[in-house]
Amino acid sequence: MSYTCGYHQIFLCFCLLFCFSLPFPVKFDELHLLPNLKSTLNKSTTSVLDSWGAANSICSFNGITCNDGGFVKEIELSNQKLTGVLPFDSICHLQSLQKLFLGFNSLYGPISEKLNNCVKLEYLDLGNNLFAGSFPDISSLTQLKSLHLNNSGFSGIFSWKMLEKMTNLTALSLGDNPFDRSPFPNQILKLKKLSWLYLANCSIEGKIPPAIGGLTELVNLELEHNHLSGEIPMEIKRFMV
Ligand SMILES: *[C@@H]1O[C@H](CO)[C@@H](O)[C@H](O)[C@H]1NC(C)=O
Ligand SMILES: *[C@@H]1O[C@H](CO)[C@@H](O)[C@H](O)[C@H]1NC(C)=O
Ligand SMILES: *[C@@H]1O[C@H](CO)[C@@H](O)[C@H](O)[C@H]1NC(C)=O
Ligand SMILES: *[C@@H]1O[C@H](CO)[C@@H](O)[C@H](O)[C@H]1NC(C)=O
Repeated sequence: MSYTCGYHQIFLCFCLLFCFSLPFPVKFDELHLLPNLKSTLNKSTTSVLDSWGAANSICSFNGITCNDGGFVKEIELSNQKLTGVLPFDSICHLQSLQKLFLGFNSLYGPISEKLNNCVKLEYLDLGNNLFAGSFPDISSLTQLKSLHLNNSGFSGIFSWKMLEKMTNLTALSLGDNPFDRSPFPNQILKLKKLSWLYLANCSIEGKIPPAIGGLTELVNLELEHNHLSGEIPMEIKRFMV
């Protein structure tokens, strides 16, 4: 004898299928992902993550801000003595993540190319940590408005080309990293909204292109401690103190 939904049961059947089953897997994932982040970071040096447990709502965790739909949109854990390797495969499963602030910690190891999956990111601060190796090409993060990687131990080739499509960048801080020597990155001249540009002490050589005068929004420009030569273009003399 087989069972089929009668008229009375059809509504219930639909309800079981759609009303209950759809919303939960998404929420479950988000809750599941952050303890994963917690277990990866070395807890011994900080208590900031103590509130991160199944007993609390994800949106009440320290450092987490959710949007109206209850999805994580911001992680702000700057200056919290965090140490460990960042699991970007988990972090970037947070589909609504727009802001990730992890500056001034003791995070180490390489940065995974999985960071490219955080496509909604507008603010990324990984500055002032103890990372190693080259920074990956993150060309898919075209919505970035602010990118801080300064003084964080990155070396090797920096893929300046990836900046080309990040036309909404207003703040770019890459200085104090021992990158391989590179000519002044002309890609930056296309970032017309830049108001903060910190490229001091990161192995830039050769001439400063006069076209830098086209960055009319600039209020802070720092290029000291590089291997620059030639004249300082008239266009940026206003930055000299
Ligand atoms: C965690 O940090 C403490 C203090 O810095 C250190 O002694 C310990 O070895 C670290 N544990 C791991 C698994 O890295
Ligand atoms: C370096 O990065 C930190 C964030 O990690 C930021 O607060 C600071 O302003 C940056 N310094 C410069 C000179 O851009
Ligand atoms: C830049 O910002 C504007 C306004 O917020 C937005 O419409 C546009 O899609 C953004 N561009 C990129 C490349 O994300
Ligand atoms: C330049 O950056 C290195 C890290 O790459 C840092 O150790 C050094 O103190 C910086 N030099 C200056 C003059 O700030």
